[in-house]
Amino acid sequence: MSHPEKILVTGGCGFIGTNFVRYLFEEAGFDGLLVNVDKLTYSGNPKNLADLAAKAGEKHYRFEKLDITDQAAMAALFDRHGFDLVVHFAAESHVDRSIVGPGEFIQTNIVGTFSLLEAARQAKAKGRPCRFHHVSTDEVYGSLGPTGKFLETTPYDPRSPYSASKASSDHLVRAYAHTYGLDVTVSNCSNNYGPYQFPEKLIPLMICHMLEGKPLPVYGDGKNVRDWLYVRDHCDAVWAIACRGKSGETYNIGGESEWCNIELLRHLCDIVAARLGKPAGAFEPLITYVPDRPGHDRRYAIDCTRIKRELGWKQSVDFQHGLEKTVDWYLGNAAWIKDVQTGEYRAWITRNYADRT
Ligand code: NAD
Ligand code: DAU
Repeated sequence: MSHPEKILVTGGCGFIGTNFVRYLFEEAGFDGLLVNVDKLTYSGNPKNLADLAAKAGEKHYRFEKLDITDQAAMAALFDRHGFDLVVHFAAESHVDRSIVGPGEFIQTNIVGTFSLLEAARQAKAKGRPCRFHHVSTDEVYGSLGPTGKFLETTPYDPRSPYSASKASSDHLVRAYAHTYGLDVTVSNCSNNYGPYQFPEKLIPLMICHMLEGKPLPVYGDGKNVRDWLYVRDHCDAVWAIACRGKSGETYNIGGESEWCNIELLRHLCDIVAARLGKPAGAFEPLITYVPDRPGHDRRYAIDCTRIKRELGWKQSVDFQHGLEKTVDWYLGNAAWIKDVQTGEYRAWITRNYADRT
């Protein structure tokens, strides 16, 4: 699969999906047809791509507001377009929400992936095989102690409803390759950050709270460790795997940039303060330790030697530069923040986190 011409992207109005669609047209020189299927949940925003849609035109970009769990709709879409490649991002993605209400995670992440796999299987039977790239997470591997890294061969040990639903979808994808000969690739990536990330995730949530003068809630002792990757580097990796990855294989993607939450937050406070012309430490009094996330995984770290060695991918944005770019994007997009914080999200936050409203 070197030059796909008809691509289905699922979840293209979410954080990584938006960045991926932009990456394809703005950086990868994609010149075919991209169909973006998104249900537009609280985390999907069609305005993210409005300018691109207008510029690309119907010949190159189409949006379909559909639920991936709707099997008939997915099959009809595959029949209509005859995709060469599916890049599957659509998911319920936030661990805290999976703890409060796992049902949607089972539906979208497991049943939704199943429904897309069925559509791909039927398309193959009709003589229109496609490559299916499944975007997954390092959280399927469980939690690490102070040392060690996740390898592609690390046994699965998911520990939240979110990671269990993603693990289940990974298994289904591999089962369809083994049983039905579907051409699949899987990627497991660490924490992404960058523009368009919904302000419920650590970095954008903290930036937004600083701007609003709200407490900065640190779970537990703040010593949990995550590996951070700038979102465009993830997009670049996904494209490399989708086009050049070996069929049936899994590739880990990571930033090789481990930070414990409290140190990351202090650093972020300094960057935001500097950008706003405030003294260093201006936001520190807002830092508030709150009860820990139930089952909070202690540490994630990714060994991404394989994708580097086999596909020549590497990170291009270091954490300092990426964090500054991210802060600048949120400072320059106050209207976007206000827009996404309304509706279903506002209602959910009010129901579950009265202290954050
Ligand atoms: P996101 O929540 O920002 O976006 C998810 C998108 O999927 C939204 O546009 C939403 O409307 C759409 N969606 C949800 N349910 C749907 C359904 N039933 N039918 C159609 N569309 C639906 O998530 P994200 O952070 O962009 O994550 C994208 C993918 O990458 C997910 O599969 C996630 O597991 C994976 N991932 C994320 C990270 C990260 O740090 N954010 C890291 C590794 C892997
Ligand atoms: O590792 C990849 C995963 O990264 C993705 O699969 C998920 O979709 C994505 O949401 C992310 O999961 P995390 O749970 O690591 O991300 P989150 O931003 O929710 O939290 C990052 C760390 O910060 C985690 O240790 C919990 C902590 N945290 C988070 C929030 C929202 C806080 O201390 N306070 C907070 O308010």
